[in-house]
Amino acid sequence: MTKAFVVGHPIKHSRSPLIHGYWLERYGLDGSYDRIDVAPVNFGDFLKGFRSKGYAGGNVTIPHKEMAFFNVERRTAQAERVGAVNTVWIEDGVLWGDNTDVAGFMAHLDASLGTGWEQDVETVLVLGAGGAARAVVAGLQDRPIKRIFVANRTPSKAEDLARDLRSGSPVGLETSAWEALPRVIPHARLIVNTTSLGMAGQPPLALDLSRAPRKAIVADIVYVPIETPLLAAASAEGLRTVDGLGMLLHQAVPGFRRWFGVTPEVTPELRGLILADIEGAR
Ligand SMILES: NC(=O)c1ccc[n+]([C@@H]2O[C@H](COP(=O)([O-])OP(=O)(O)OC[C@H]3O[C@@H](n4cnc5c(N)ncnc54)[C@H](OP(=O)(O)O)[C@@H]3O)[C@@H](O)[C@H]2O)c1
Repeated sequence: MTKAFVVGHPIKHSRSPLIHGYWLERYGLDGSYDRIDVAPVNFGDFLKGFRSKGYAGGNVTIPHKEMAFFNVERRTAQAERVGAVNTVWIEDGVLWGDNTDVAGFMAHLDASLGTGWEQDVETVLVLGAGGAARAVVAGLQDRPIKRIFVANRTPSKAEDLARDLRSGSPVGLETSAWEALPRVIPHARLIVNTTSLGMAGQPPLALDLSRAPRKAIVADIVYVPIETPLLAAASAEGLRTVDGLGMLLHQAVPGFRRWFGVTPEVTPELRGLILADIEGAR
């Protein structure tokens, strides 16, 4: 039997066991995916010791993603760019770390918009400069986009992000002051919210989308609620929208493949299952 885990602190709200449990059953695999609560002080030992407990690897979530980054032996290029690790596994005796939010965000965009969607997209606006923003920017930098603007409530964090991710990419990476957004939005063919604004219990992200290009796409990575106030406002303007749930589902794919040896499919049934869980919890 192959065992994997999700480790965090706290961990009881993670939906990863539901996702991986669905796939284990769907593919008839002899495996388990366990929820493990580990306090930060014990995380280093956990990472060193999970092999001896029979685990093939697992997901790492808040607050351990940066510590995992520093404690794995090898990292994927995506993890290097983001500076955080959310998926670990053993390969030829070596402890590897990846950041699958990068592939997860891009796979969901491709699945929602169709491959090649970026052909028409010159300018992207990313709101937020936290860990998720880094993953989103890193993913977008692999596409033939001209420039990405990053705007954040705390401008210095946007500057840090741009400085860290700019090198080695042909995509222009610039920052925008929050107050300057009315001048950026009319040029942005893709607008992505990576802040926690709009999440249940948080204030909405209030953006005036009336001057966004008619063909603009508005994506939100917040998925509780599934239709955030930003996505509702975008729909009201007649703009295309991409919700945040698909990123959560697609980011789980590479880990499952590494631990269980099967590339799982993000099916409408899986989406329905997680959606029902989100609705049920509200
Ligand atoms: N769909 C998915 O699979 C997925 C994956 C990862 C994350 N997420 C979601 O993405 C969101 C961000 O996650 P994260 O890991 O990047 O968090 P994080 O590192 O804590 O960053 C939070 C971001 O939100 C901004 N923010 C928070 N409160 C704000 C407010 N009142 N006004 C303006 N900006 C505010 C922060 O700005 P400051 O720098 O100014 O504080 C920062 O840019 C969360 O809601 C998370 O659930 C979704």
